Amino acid sequence: MTRRTVLVALALALSITGAGLLRWSLAEAGPPAPGVVGVEALPDGAIRSFSLVAEPASRTRPDGLELDVWAYNGTVPGPELRVDLGDTVVVELANRLPEPTTIHWHGVRVPNDMDGVPWLNQDPVEPGESFTYEFRPPDAGTFWFHSHTRGAEQLERGLYGSLVVEDPREVGPDVDLTWMVDDWLVTDAGALDVNFSAFHDVTHNGRWGNVVTTNGVVAPQAPIAPGSHVRLRIVNASNARVIAPIFDGLVPRVTSVDGLAVDDPFDGNEFVLAPGNRIDVEFVMPDSVVAVDDDFNGEGYRLGTLVPHGARRSTDVSAAPPRPFVAMSDGSVAPDPDHVYTLDFLEVDGSPAWGMNERTLPDADTWMLELGAISTARLVNRSQAIHPIHVHGQFFRVVAVDGIVVDEGFTRDTVLVWPGQSIDIAIDATAPGTWLVHCHIQEHADAGMATLLDVG
Ligand code: C2O
Ligand code: CU
Repeated sequence: MTRRTVLVALALALSITGAGLLRWSLAEAGPPAPGVVGVEALPDGAIRSFSLVAEPASRTRPDGLELDVWAYNGTVPGPELRVDLGDTVVVELANRLPEPTTIHWHGVRVPNDMDGVPWLNQDPVEPGESFTYEFRPPDAGTFWFHSHTRGAEQLERGLYGSLVVEDPREVGPDVDLTWMVDDWLVTDAGALDVNFSAFHDVTHNGRWGNVVTTNGVVAPQAPIAPGSHVRLRIVNASNARVIAPIFDGLVPRVTSVDGLAVDDPFDGNEFVLAPGNRIDVEFVMPDSVVAVDDDFNGEGYRLGTLVPHGARRSTDVSAAPPRPFVAMSDGSVAPDPDHVYTLDFLEVDGSPAWGMNERTLPDADTWMLELGAISTARLVNRSQAIHPIHVHGQFFRVVAVDGIVVDEGFTRDTVLVWPGQSIDIAIDATAPGTWLVHCHIQEHADAGMATLLDVG
């Protein structure tokens, strides 16, 4: 079977078993939970300054071959930026790439002019130039940053890293780990395949690599003292690959999705991460080795192994308290969506393209949303490909799938829409400005699959 056949077969299988639609229930979906907390309520923090240099680098693979990557500060992933809620983050980006670049802070509700979409939020940062990003994250959780310029090449070459916002008032876990999962398309000669945005990848489900790495390494081992209370933050940084982590012999609890705390923790073996998605899972480290594999389409990639190491620790097994500062405004959800987006395969000037409402960026329409209100959009996938749709600047909840009301029990910034599927999302418009909405498969986004939201 070709990869696409596998995906389609899998899509069918999943829609029959329901396994792809996590925790969908037919229960009445209420409005998103109110809990309005604004930046004003944050504890006073420090100013945390970082510098990120984007430049070509050579990365040695575990087998000794080298890949020509583009990296922040010479490593893939780039350095993890860890700050406390209330801190002000200042990042100076220096561009030493041969082409313009920008950084997007995925999932962080930054001021509009810090959001990193070239031409929309800022001018591209030219080679040799610098740009300083400054924002105060209003939410604690697992976020990430990546290039938002020609992502099909710049992300694929390695321009990404994680941004973790800790809540200083939380009793943290004993062990706090981040796994950034990515895949690479490596040629028979062992080099990075530089045929970015290949016709097949653009016209299908994007570029799927043949080497899967976690924090830049194939199947790393994480030594952890048994008995430790562990928080593992998983980020899917792939251009296109969808992952479904399976923990051998362990039932970790998902405590956060896309950075924000879930209503009720659920089994970490049941979550599918599209490109852009994150989950935090929490568990007590057992006395035995736990292999973590990607179970998405049967390719059997190992994401990593948790290895008991050192003296047993006894810890409070109770989960960390739910994180505050999840800002959701009060509001009610209309049964009919306020806006409809169709997701379509197009041909523009004889080239394959992807559109929302049959238009491609920059020729997109602009949907006006009221600040502080909740508005609903229906995402209708009329194509044969999958599309993880990402909304910048705001969070949303999935409120219906194929017309059936659902309550996932968590908030997202990215949702996977399967071929033929229609998903209703309720967007909590909390950040003013014009924001990008797009498919997070980089080859689709670069082929036009993006539109605009105007919150005001
Ligand atoms: Cu993670 Cu618009 O991107
Ligand atoms: Cu897409």
